[in-house]
Amino acid sequence: MREFSEETLTEAVVGRLKDVQDARFRQVMESAIRHLHAFAREVQLTEEEWFEGIRFLTATGQKCDDRRQEFILLSDVLGLSMMVVALNSKAARGATESTVLGPFFVQGAPAFEYGADLSATTGVPGEPTWVTGRVLSTDGKPIAGASLEIWQSRADGVYDVQDPGAGHELRGRLRTNAEGRYAFRTHKPKYYPVPTDGPVGRLLDAMGRHPMRPAHMHAIVSAPGYQQVITHVFAAGDPYLDSDVVFAVKDSLIAEYRRIDDEAEAKKLGMPSPFLLLEWDFRLAPEAGGKARKAISAKDAAA
Ligand code: BEZ
Ligand code: FE
Repeated sequence: MREFSEETLTEAVVGRLKDVQDARFRQVMESAIRHLHAFAREVQLTEEEWFEGIRFLTATGQKCDDRRQEFILLSDVLGLSMMVVALNSKAARGATESTVLGPFFVQGAPAFEYGADLSATTGVPGEPTWVTGRVLSTDGKPIAGASLEIWQSRADGVYDVQDPGAGHELRGRLRTNAEGRYAFRTHKPKYYPVPTDGPVGRLLDAMGRHPMRPAHMHAIVSAPGYQQVITHVFAAGDPYLDSDVVFAVKDSLIAEYRRIDDEAEAKKLGMPSPFLLLEWDFRLAPEAGGKARKAISAKDAAA
């Protein structure tokens, strides 16, 4: 068959999927083709506009390298990343909610002991902060030996990986102690813009949108027998909580950084006085029965 029209083209393209063996792949491709064609018809896409679209996608690919993933950023700012999180991470009742992974996770960050100082390697001054809490099961039992991957921006809103001169800063791997408790010292993170020096930055600008994310600490928390959670803890009071450029804020993930003005308490923890205190428990759902989000592993980083 040939000579396709606006009316017959979609069915013709979908029809050529008939020999695809993998049923899921066929379903995904059929839907993608139907939606793309429907989009072009709905906006009556001109040839010039489509070439502009191709130019944009080409520039997006060309911006990607080992340290920069412009396609993930595009998915993030269009809300697609959070849509995929929402579809795949329906938190079990009482479990910590998931949110985007983002592009600044680094495999192989240093391991730290309970109470260590993750801010020791940063040259950027920040507000000294003690972060502590427990990893609990959804029925409230402390989980000993749970693992936490923590990463966050510096107090100037920049991640170590965005600074070519920096090593690991404000990131690390920790484990909970026998009581299921973790603790470490860091700085209070700051709100920051997602990278805007590429095509996604220009797109945000064209859409009249700001590029800001509210201040947050990232965490991946896991323990044998429990579903891993990829999440953030957002700083209460941040001016961008209601307009996060990647739509990742959830009310259940907002916490106070409390100012502690108590010399004795500071001394006990080895902190200066005053300092900030973030107390935060993570809750993990049991593995069985839930739809777990794919665990982050060494393989992902190498990919
Ligand atoms: C982040 O929180 O690190 C992040 C998430 C999505 C896009 C850019 C940055
Ligand atoms: Fe972040």
